[in-house]
Amino acid sequence: MAANVPKIKFNNGEEIPAVGLGTWQSSADDVKNAVEHALKEGYRHIDCAWGYGNEQHVGEGIRASGVPRSEIFITSKLWSTWHSRVEEALDQTLANLGTDYLDLYLIHWPVPLNPKGNHPAFPLLPDGKRDVDHSWHLKDTWKQMEAVLKKGKVKSIGVSNFSKMKLEEILPSAEIVPAVDQLELHVYNPQHELVKYLKSKGITPQAYSPLGSTKSTLLTDADVVEIANKHNLQPADVLLGYLLAKEMVVLPKSVTPSRITSNLSGAIRALETLTKADVERLDGLAAAGKQNRFITPPWPIELGFDNWPKLL
Ligand SMILES: NC(=O)c1ccc[n+]([C@@H]2O[C@H](COP(=O)([O-])OP(=O)(O)OC[C@H]3O[C@@H](n4cnc5c(N)ncnc54)[C@H](OP(=O)(O)O)[C@@H]3O)[C@@H](O)[C@H]2O)c1
Repeated sequence: MAANVPKIKFNNGEEIPAVGLGTWQSSADDVKNAVEHALKEGYRHIDCAWGYGNEQHVGEGIRASGVPRSEIFITSKLWSTWHSRVEEALDQTLANLGTDYLDLYLIHWPVPLNPKGNHPAFPLLPDGKRDVDHSWHLKDTWKQMEAVLKKGKVKSIGVSNFSKMKLEEILPSAEIVPAVDQLELHVYNPQHELVKYLKSKGITPQAYSPLGSTKSTLLTDADVVEIANKHNLQPADVLLGYLLAKEMVVLPKSVTPSRITSNLSGAIRALETLTKADVERLDGLAAAGKQNRFITPPWPIELGFDNWPKLL
């Protein structure tokens, strides 16, 4: 089954399987079983992060699957308290996963947090706001990302949750253009302008929360359900196939074996089945009044995204 998963080529020539298993909010036991099941069912791409606190269990699932490391595309992400210590953070991630390289390493959020604050991951100020390190510049994080790439510890580097405004803080001094920008992308938050900008720079968009995340309202959307019924697909297949048709990487998360299996096969079936008119109709849902972001952590700085809640 793995053979017919489409691949997308990065600006550096590396290739990524266009469907990857998400691992956010998957518990230790669940994620081990989910990763093992996914790899046995043909997935060859796992999306991880130090911040998810479950990399060790992802590593166990990879080993339990029996699929060789060389056949698997592994992504992880630099957490915000580690912007000034990229190699140290990466070494922890490599040890957690039990591998000596990553296929892709991303800056998780364009927000450096105080590395000496009152919590190792979510330091807070006395007023309860996240403790941002305003003295640290993103271009210096990117320099350190370039350094670990040059050392051979990762094959590609990229960013996540970077708007055009944030990309413009690193691009002028970047030696290496990010391979990807991982963003909340789905039918209710298509970010058409930003995706166009990324493509003009040769940056591959990766769609996180492609199903609308936890307690999704996308799966029961009337237009999505109608298109699914018309083609004898599941709503989840339509949501994923739509993003694949737009040449994005999709990262559906599930810990339910039947869903893990059907998300891969269904996404590919939907890619083969959806018409140009279906894609155009789904493209228009947000503009027609359904625009909605689901992932908006309380960062106390301006990120430069459209449709982000106002700063308090
Ligand atoms: N870079 C970032 O800042 C960032 C942020 C968010 C997410 N991500 C990445 O993107 C991945 C996906 O995003 P996400 O986890 O927010 O949400 P998602 O993949 O859009 O949705 C996951 C939810 O949908 C359910 N689900 C999965 N397949 C289904 C199906 N076929 N039918 C019905 N329900 C289904 C899952 O339940 P069960 O698990 O119970 O089956 C889970 O509750 C994450 O896991 C993570 O790897 C990255």
